[in-house]
Formats: sequence, C-alpha cells, structure tokens
Amino acid sequence: MSTTVITNIGELVTNDPDAEDVLGAIPEAALVIEGGKVAWVGPAIDAPEADEQYDAGGRAVLPGFVDSHSHLVFAGDRSQEFAARMTGTPYAAGGIRTTVAATRSATDEQLTSHVARLVDEMRRQGTTTVEIKSGYGLTVRDEARSLVVARQFTEETTFLGAHVVPDGDPAEYVELVTGAMLDAAKEHARWIDVFCERGAFDEDQARAILAAGAAVGLKGRLHANQLTYGPGVRLAAELGLVAVDHCTYLTDEDVAALRDSGTIATLLPGVEFSTKQPYPDARRLLDAGVRVALASDCNPGSCFTSSLPLCIALAVREMGMSPAEAVHAATSGGAQALDRDDVGALTVGKRADLMILDAPSHVHLAYRPGVPLVAATWVGGRPHLSTH
Ligand code: NIG
Ligand code: FE
Repeated sequence: MSTTVITNIGELVTNDPDAEDVLGAIPEAALVIEGGKVAWVGPAIDAPEADEQYDAGGRAVLPGFVDSHSHLVFAGDRSQEFAARMTGTPYAAGGIRTTVAATRSATDEQLTSHVARLVDEMRRQGTTTVEIKSGYGLTVRDEARSLVVARQFTEETTFLGAHVVPDGDPAEYVELVTGAMLDAAKEHARWIDVFCERGAFDEDQARAILAAGAAVGLKGRLHANQLTYGPGVRLAAELGLVAVDHCTYLTDEDVAALRDSGTIATLLPGVEFSTKQPYPDARRLLDAGVRVALASDCNPGSCFTSSLPLCIALAVREMGMSPAEAVHAATSGGAQALDRDDVGALTVGKRADLMILDAPSHVHLAYRPGVPLVAATWVGGRPHLSTH
C-alpha cells in the first residue's frame, strides 16, 4: 500500500485523549497516511520515509470538522424571513412549513444537486463528516426520498418526520410518523430525531416517537430547549441518548442531568446568530463536566450557514469557550455526538480526514473570523477536489 507523509506541519492537532492539553497539539510535526488512515504522527524530525511527500509549509493541520447536525435536504429560500428577523420579527417554528411546500414540489434531481452543492461548500470549509436530516418532506413519500437523497452523501442520516405537524390533527400525525412513515424511512436512516418544543412536539409525543424508532433499531437524538425552557433535555438524559441539540435554555437540573447521563450537549451558535436569541452558555456546561459539541444546524430557516469556522468564532466570542475547546467540540465533540470513533482525531488508526489551515495554529479560526482559512480538506487521505 502506498504511503503519504505530510511534513513541515507548524501545529498538528491530534485530539489525542491522553495528551496533557485539550487538543493533543504537536509543534513542528508530520503525519503519515496509509490506506486512507493515519499510520504515524509525531515530530517531523522523526518522520519515517513515505512514497509521496506533501510539504505543509509550516501551516496547521487539524482533524476535519464533524458536523453532527444539519438539514441539507430542502428547496426554496427564506431570506426574507431572515431580513424581517433582523429588524425585530421573532423566529417561530412554523416557518418550517414554507420549506416543506417548496421541498415537496422539487424533483429528486433538484434536491440531490442542492445537497451536493452544500456538502461541497462544507468540505471547502473543513468539514469531512456531516449528519443530514430529513424533515422538510413530512409525508411518507417525501420523508423517504429526502433520506434516500441524504444517504448519497453520508451514512449519518436522521429521520426527522417529527419536525413539525404539517397540517391536521397532531395525534394522527404522530401515528403516521411512528407507523407508515417510520416504516418507509427506517432502512435509509441511522438516527431518529424529534423537535421537542412548544409549537412542535411535546414530551409524551417525543417519547412515543423515539420509542418507535428504537424498536426498529434507530438511535435517538433530540432538538430541545431551543426557544424556551422545556422537558426535552431531561428526557434525552433520562433515555441516555448520545446527544441532545440546541440546549439554549437550561435550568440547573437540566445541566446536572446532562452531566450525570453523559449525553452530549450539541450547541448550534449559528442559530442564535440568525434568530437573535441569546447564545447557549457553553462555559457553564463545560465547568459542570458536560461534554459539548459544536455543529452548524445548516437549514434554510433558523440558520443558513454551513461554516464551522463561524460557529467556532461565535463560541469563543459569545459562549465562553477557549479556541482549543471550540475546535475540540467541532471535531472530537461532533464525532462523539455521532457515536463515531473513527473520525474527529488524528491519532494512529483514525481516518485521514483533515484540513490544512492557511495559518500557523488553530487559534486563527477564532482570531481571524470570516476569513477563508481552510487551504485544503483531505477526505480518507486524499485532497477533496471542489465540484462547484
Ligand atoms: O434546528 N429547530 C428545528 N429545526 C430547525 C429549524 C428549521 C427551520 O426553521 O426551517 C433548527 O433550528
Ligand atoms: Fe436543527
């Protein structure tokens, strides 16, 4: 098998859990790739020979971002809703229905090429693993086809038939989600998710939907405590879910429940940026011993950014995270939130999914907000060639 060495790395972020610092950073480093995986990391001076050599020119190399929360399968545009919010109109969950109508009218080809464009946009910003949800179809046919589209791009697909009640009686809709819709969705999804929030689904409905998913082998996750305090975070902790997402409004009991269950709090600061809500308090969670991930929540309504560098900058500036904690949360944190141990780190045996920054260290991701610092993204040991 041929080998590649990336040498002259100014700072290599490994996320080695045994290191003293949070990022397991190695200065003046090299990394060897074999068969798409990391075969060796260490000081450049000790690097073994390899078939191919790539000179990083003193730049930083980081694990690729693991974006554990996105809604990329949709059609239509809600920029006017965003503009209205910026001048005072509050965000409401009901806007989801606008995207549902546009998504139902789109062809499979239109949806697929739109997702391809967004995934490419993510890659160019350092994301190497992405989770993609359904949730803008909300009929048996449209949820199933949304997941089929998403599966072309990732194994991490999530059935979100319980995004909002599209019309009619909520109890009948929950029956559909847990019955025929789940049946059609299950073979195309790894996860099941519920928007547990006032205006969407309540605790009992969320319990029923997650239980139905678990019965057919789907792992649960939740959108919870985004717009107000509520029962979702405690439900996620009680059920021992891998991750619960948003976590903007938390009581002390919620924080304690997350700490005790080990459920990861996935924070999505692009949403607060785009809805003018208060940012979640990452410092409070970290100080309490809660594990934190950062993800984009890329969707047409509450947050249309695909940029984890932006999320890192916001988390550092507005949420009390250090640059190292924010980078860790967007890489290792995302991997943990997807229950993946093959990505999110650059230690021996992990996938060679990485980004090369046009900067000497990870700190620049927050220090130089808005600047396209990702010089190259490598997926499975090969540079990603942009298709757009
Ligand atoms: O994660 N919270 C629910 N779903 C999306 C928003 C969807 C929309 O407004 O279209 C979110 O924020
Ligand atoms: Fe979301």
